[in-house]
Amino acid sequence: MANFPRAAIAGLGSGIPEKVLSNADLEKMLDTNDEWITQRTGIKERRIVSPGQSTVTLAVQAAKEAIAQAGITADDLDLIVCATITPEMPLPTTACVIQSELGVKGIPAFDVVAACSGYLYGLTVGSQFIMTGKYKRVLVIGVDVLSSMTDYEDRGTSILFGDGAGAAVLVATDDEDKGIIHTVLHAEGSGWNYIHVPAGGTRKVTSAETVANREHFIKMRGRDVYKFAVEKMQWLLGDCLEKCNLTVDDVDMVIPHQVNLRIITSATRKFNFPMEKVFVNIDKYGNTSAGSVPLAMSEAWREGAIGPGSTVILAAFGAGLTWAGAVIKL
Ligand code: UT7
Repeated sequence: MANFPRAAIAGLGSGIPEKVLSNADLEKMLDTNDEWITQRTGIKERRIVSPGQSTVTLAVQAAKEAIAQAGITADDLDLIVCATITPEMPLPTTACVIQSELGVKGIPAFDVVAACSGYLYGLTVGSQFIMTGKYKRVLVIGVDVLSSMTDYEDRGTSILFGDGAGAAVLVATDDEDKGIIHTVLHAEGSGWNYIHVPAGGTRKVTSAETVANREHFIKMRGRDVYKFAVEKMQWLLGDCLEKCNLTVDDVDMVIPHQVNLRIITSATRKFNFPMEKVFVNIDKYGNTSAGSVPLAMSEAWREGAIGPGSTVILAAFGAGLTWAGAVIKL
């Protein structure tokens, strides 16, 4: 028996900076080329913040759109959850700054940190608060400004990353044909060093030396992450289909973490999902970490690729190592 209330998506939004960083731009900065990047990743360009823009700029843009689409005002919210690994500042949480920018007072606001799986973790937290009856309207944001921790001298990582945000307003519903019907979260901490930023925390406090050694940038074991990613994305799709008793025909769209087109196609091919049922916008934005899935979902909605009545699978993996999925009836 399903538990009610459930969390339904009432509004979606996205936030992207105007500035484009194309493969041609990267060719001028690094020993790389458009053909290699396109063939190995599917990425053609990414968006990058300009001076004066930050995590909160993108988050608030996405949040305002989601709130407007939900037909409510920010004052109607009961909780704000922000998933990010690139906070506005080390202290306080980004969610509190977003709350202030939205002009709301008093409601709880906190961050969730699970890298590229962050939005799925945040969505699960928001959904749980609704299912227990504690809150009725929850804003969940996934946002990252990865350009702030990308080493533009490292061709193994810098070609992948971009900046972006997406948001959803969750509302309580008793409609059994609607809502987040399944979530799944996992982590394998022994793989923490597959993708990490060595300095800036308590293990290695920021110093002139850590800055000179470029230790504030993302270090990644690309091939190891690739193998992990394909395995976990396949596992997530299998879990979502099985737990919700769905076939590929029942699913209208898979919205995967926009990480690498080859990872996305390898994972979805295993279940014979046709590419028309797999939403891809990695060519325009690259990997925006916690922003990736909600940005793609918001764009899919705006383009009419998904709409009321659609059954959607979300799947993501990332640093931690973490992996997470959800099945949503819109
Ligand atoms: O959410 C964060 C999670 N991160 C990921 O999911 C990343 C997962 N990994 C990947 O997407 C891929 O491993 C990469 C796109 C990072 C790399 O692609 P790959 O097919 O695994 O390439 P590789 O690292 O095996 O390198 C193949 C060759 C090497 O040259 P040699 O040794 O064969 O001569 C590299 O030096 O390609 C070279 N190479 C490049 N060439 C041009 C590596 N990066 C580049 C580059 N441009 N940017």
